[in-house]
Amino acid sequence: MPSTVALTGASGFIGQAIANQLSQAGVKVRGLVRTHPKIPGLEHPNITLINGSLNNLESLHTLIQGCDSLINCAGSIRGRRREDFIATNVQGVTNLLKVCLSQSFPPQIIQISSLAAREPSLSSYAWSKQEGERIIQEQADSLKWVIIRPPAVYGPGDKALLPLFQLAKKGIALQLGPHEGKFSLIHVSDLTDVIVRCLEADTIRSTIFEVDDGFPNGYSWESVFHVLNPHIKGHLRIPPKLLWLAGKSNEILSQLFRYSPLFTTGKVAELCHTNWVCDSLEARKQLEWVPQIPLAEGLRHLFASDNLMISKKN
Ligand SMILES: NC(=O)c1ccc[n+]([C@@H]2O[C@H](COP(=O)([O-])OP(=O)(O)OC[C@H]3O[C@@H](n4cnc5c(N)ncnc54)[C@H](OP(=O)(O)O)[C@@H]3O)[C@@H](O)[C@H]2O)c1
Repeated sequence: MPSTVALTGASGFIGQAIANQLSQAGVKVRGLVRTHPKIPGLEHPNITLINGSLNNLESLHTLIQGCDSLINCAGSIRGRRREDFIATNVQGVTNLLKVCLSQSFPPQIIQISSLAAREPSLSSYAWSKQEGERIIQEQADSLKWVIIRPPAVYGPGDKALLPLFQLAKKGIALQLGPHEGKFSLIHVSDLTDVIVRCLEADTIRSTIFEVDDGFPNGYSWESVFHVLNPHIKGHLRIPPKLLWLAGKSNEILSQLFRYSPLFTTGKVAELCHTNWVCDSLEARKQLEWVPQIPLAEGLRHLFASDNLMISKKN
């Protein structure tokens, strides 16, 4: 295991989980944050926060200098157009590579990409995540890198899936994708485990890993709703055209009121895609990793405690 790890996106849902797991394992974590001099949940003595951004080279030097590994977990997940995602997901990766390559002892790089990178034509987000991967593949030269493509991630601090989960708990299944759609899921703690395995595995390089919770052939919407609540009363299937209209309306509103939208026509295209099933065989084999948290257990844990609320932005 490396002794010092640089982590971007440390204030985010997945970044916080990584910072906590590593710091508790005795690793020194340097976390890049754009704001908040103190972030609740990142107070372990092994965590040092560095103010900066993927678009500020000076802060990236401070972050990376002397680190054995770099985990790039920063990402833009909101926006309408490609330009909204480029600064972080594309130019940000270029900047990180530039700083890594300038080090006398460059760190190994773990890039948190997304399964969305498999389908770049669906949305600007998906395109930008694939671009980030391409830059690493083409420009990392002699650097040691691993790209991880998670599917949808859930767990304490997540806000994207939580509203759907909470509705289903109350008896309302809000289905935002086609009936025949299949997708993988992963608990954030299984994702951080796989990242730790990548840090430990010295021989693995230049590889893209898809990772999931080990559920074979993916979940259907119905199967997830059933795990959440076997006594669901109302099942609302939103037709793709209506979803698209909602996405378009949100885009227009975001322009009028100047906010960065999560739910867009691009997100609808992702939701309507029928195959988001991961193939995690290579990750399990090469990293000798076994996911530990099946969906039922992950959800039980999430709803059985105050875990829902562990997040800086709550
Ligand atoms: N959550 C999922 O289901 C999922 C699935 C697949 C892949 N991923 C990928 O996992 C990564 C983390 O996602 P998440 O769910 O944890 O998202 P999140 O909670 O929105 O966190 C994103 C993080 O990136 C930081 N960030 C954004 N732009 C930055 C910039 N220009 N410079 C420095 N930091 C920047 C944010 O900082 P601020 O706090 O300052 O905004 C935040 O810490 C992303 O790359 C995402 O694409 C997530």
